[in-house]
Amino acid sequence: MTTISASVLGADLMNLGAELRRAEQLGVTWLHLDQMDGHFVPNISFGPDFVAAMRKATGLFLDVHLMLSHPLRYIDAYADAGADLIVVHAEAEDDPQEALRAIAARGIKAGICIKPGTQPEAIRPLLPLCDLVLVMTVEPGFGGQSLMEDCVAKLPMLREMIAGTGRDILLEVDGGVKQGNAQRVIDAGADVLVIGTGLFRAKDPQAVVDAVMAGGAA
Ligand code: DX5
Ligand code: ZN
Repeated sequence: MTTISASVLGADLMNLGAELRRAEQLGVTWLHLDQMDGHFVPNISFGPDFVAAMRKATGLFLDVHLMLSHPLRYIDAYADAGADLIVVHAEAEDDPQEALRAIAARGIKAGICIKPGTQPEAIRPLLPLCDLVLVMTVEPGFGGQSLMEDCVAKLPMLREMIAGTGRDILLEVDGGVKQGNAQRVIDAGADVLVIGTGLFRAKDPQAVVDAVMAGGAA
């Protein structure tokens, strides 16, 4: 079954409590929390205190996406905040191996993310340290962009690379996923779909969730 990770960036930030309840009632099981530093990406979003507030408010699985140049400096803060999964970028300035090890050392699931310009081959050596691979299907930094189809083409290759490790590694996709393209992304090999505006701003969010979970998103 496909998991939806609801991206809080797409929610009504003035009514976050209500938005959280709405996600829970829709049957969503993961929350995607984008952390941006204004350096790795040209935008600034939330920080560890925000994640801690989410942790207090919900039992949903907290999927924390670090779009930070120096993730190593903040892993303990996000672990203390209650993240269930911390994802770092392969393109960050800090050594991704070191970051993945630091996350695992805190007993948290560790993920590696690739931007549209990074090829799957670049992360092959990191797979033994990963519980999840996150494929960006937009340039990271902003919600509400259109999915880049050529990034979806990376999924079958990654599925094969993952199978080769013999490890149970989830494949997650982030950026521009909507009801109309979700099935294509699932068919290409995704286990987890990040959906922000395509969920929180959809006319019928329940239809989005039901379609994705039933595997009939098209
Ligand atoms: C973009 C973020 C995404 C974003 C997705 O940099 O990583 O998680 O919230 O938003 P949508 O689903 O609106 O493209
Ligand atoms: Zn994200």
